[in-house]
Amino acid sequence: MPRNRTPLCYSFLLTLLLFKLCIICSSSSSPHKPTSTPPLPILPLPTYSQLKWQQREIIMFLHFGVNTFTDREWGTGQENPAVFNPSGLNTKQWANVAADAGISLMILTAKHHDGFCLWPSKYTDHSVISSPWKAGKGDVVQEFVDAATQQRIDVGIYLSPWDRHEPRYGHDVAYNEYYLAQLQELLNKYKNVREIWFDGAKDPKSQNASYYFSDWFSMVKELQSSINIFSDAGPDVRWVGDETGTAGYTCWSTINRTSLSIGAPNISQYLSTGDPRGTDWLPAECDVSIRQGWFWHKSESPKRLSELLDIYYNSVGRNCVLLLNVPPNTTGLVSDDDAHRLKELRSAINTIFSKNLAEDVYIKVSSQRSGEFGPEKMLDEDHLWSYWAPSGDDGEEDHWVEIWSNDGGLRFNVIRVQEAIGLGQRIQRHEIYVDGKLMIKGTTVGYKRLHRLDVDVVHARVVRIRITKARGLPLISSIGLHFDPYWHSKITVN
Ligand SMILES: *[C@@H]1O[C@H](CO)[C@@H](O)[C@H](O)[C@H]1NC(C)=O
Ligand SMILES: *[C@@H]1O[C@H](CO)[C@@H](O)[C@H](O)[C@H]1NC(C)=O
Ligand SMILES: *[C@@H]1O[C@H](CO)[C@@H](O)[C@H](O)[C@H]1NC(C)=O
Ligand SMILES: *[C@@H]1O[C@H](CO)[C@@H](O)[C@H](O)[C@H]1NC(C)=O
Repeated sequence: MPRNRTPLCYSFLLTLLLFKLCIICSSSSSPHKPTSTPPLPILPLPTYSQLKWQQREIIMFLHFGVNTFTDREWGTGQENPAVFNPSGLNTKQWANVAADAGISLMILTAKHHDGFCLWPSKYTDHSVISSPWKAGKGDVVQEFVDAATQQRIDVGIYLSPWDRHEPRYGHDVAYNEYYLAQLQELLNKYKNVREIWFDGAKDPKSQNASYYFSDWFSMVKELQSSINIFSDAGPDVRWVGDETGTAGYTCWSTINRTSLSIGAPNISQYLSTGDPRGTDWLPAECDVSIRQGWFWHKSESPKRLSELLDIYYNSVGRNCVLLLNVPPNTTGLVSDDDAHRLKELRSAINTIFSKNLAEDVYIKVSSQRSGEFGPEKMLDEDHLWSYWAPSGDDGEEDHWVEIWSNDGGLRFNVIRVQEAIGLGQRIQRHEIYVDGKLMIKGTTVGYKRLHRLDVDVVHARVVRIRITKARGLPLISSIGLHFDPYWHSKITVN
């Protein structure tokens, strides 16, 4: 330490000492005063793994396999493994692209419907073993897991139940044994898988084939307990019911699993909205591709930034997680076009949400539960366990929050509301008034609700968020007024 710094150091220490003494004085003169307790939760509640998943907001799917080389979306199962030769495969590039886009979980198609395995499965030779890539000695799944781990990105796996190559397909016991063997192989070999993805796709000619989902799911949880299982019917994450990246305008994380079955044709609508009376916590994931197809095709290009932002508002902004597919090309790399677009998306999201106009102005609330539940809790960084709670004990009263700027200085076009979902999803209906005028008639909120106004921008003095119906006391963990410079509404207002 340079000598001339010493006096500063001493004075700092002296201040610290005095400060400590003060704390001791004040705590000895007034003994620990208990604060009031948080309100009771409203069931069902998320699990720890579901909460972690929800906070990821955007996760990445990577469709890669023989289809990448044959220019198809669904392989036939008859592909010659010799076609699989990604000469410049570099999973570190995949992970860098994801990291640059602020993505914390990547899911790889270990096997798609064509049955070709990206890892050297001991149960089939229809895999990387029979390909020219790395002379049959490579393992894409291992390289994927290693690269992700290095970037501190979590991994997920998709193993298609429908297998168009495997001759045992359609022979129930034999095929389910084969599938389960591969599932065990993957989950034993690759650790800390955070999400495993199942769909119910079947050969149209073998509609009577059965998948033993309960056996599979039990085995998954036995091998890796902190994993989230995704399927039409959960048990941890549900499909949103479409592949456009759009959740229902109303979207509950709660639903009745007894009304769902994987691959059922009558559940799409129910999946997209969920159920306010649902007995299971089963939040929705919106899967969509950055391009038209799931696999890479030379003829396709990424969606425009404005389309991706629409998708973001309609998925993450409606209480869901967005699973965005970014397909590696035949070289084995994410195309520059896609990487560039993803970076633009992240930078746009950061631009829009880095400034919250509600932070520096006056906030008024209808009432406040005593204790640590004041309106300032809606403006801190904690979007789960720190929240404003009104007084009273039900959702029938009129609860509201007002954001005031007396000089009319609120210039925004996006309103963000978040619920403390750790205590259950509650809000059923809400309204937003800007300078007394009703602008939004909203429904559910959940982890995050984003409303983009129908106008490019408003200048306002006061914004009121009214909770008009809730399953009990509404608990709001965060609010925000933001300006989205990328948004150009079709409606023009003077
Ligand atoms: C499914 O139906 C086909 C023909 O209709 C039959 O050959 C096959 O054995 C059936 N599979 C099962 C699992 O019942
Ligand atoms: C779909 O149909 C099945 C079988 O008829 C039924 O049990 C289930 O409740 C239905 N689900 C929905 C959401 O309508
Ligand atoms: C879901 O279950 C609850 C509780 O049993 C029930 O009240 C509700 O009507 C169910 N929802 C549907 C759509 O059946
Ligand atoms: C795949 O993407 C990389 C990185 O953008 C690019 O250098 C390569 O040319 C692409 N391969 C093909 C076949 O387009």
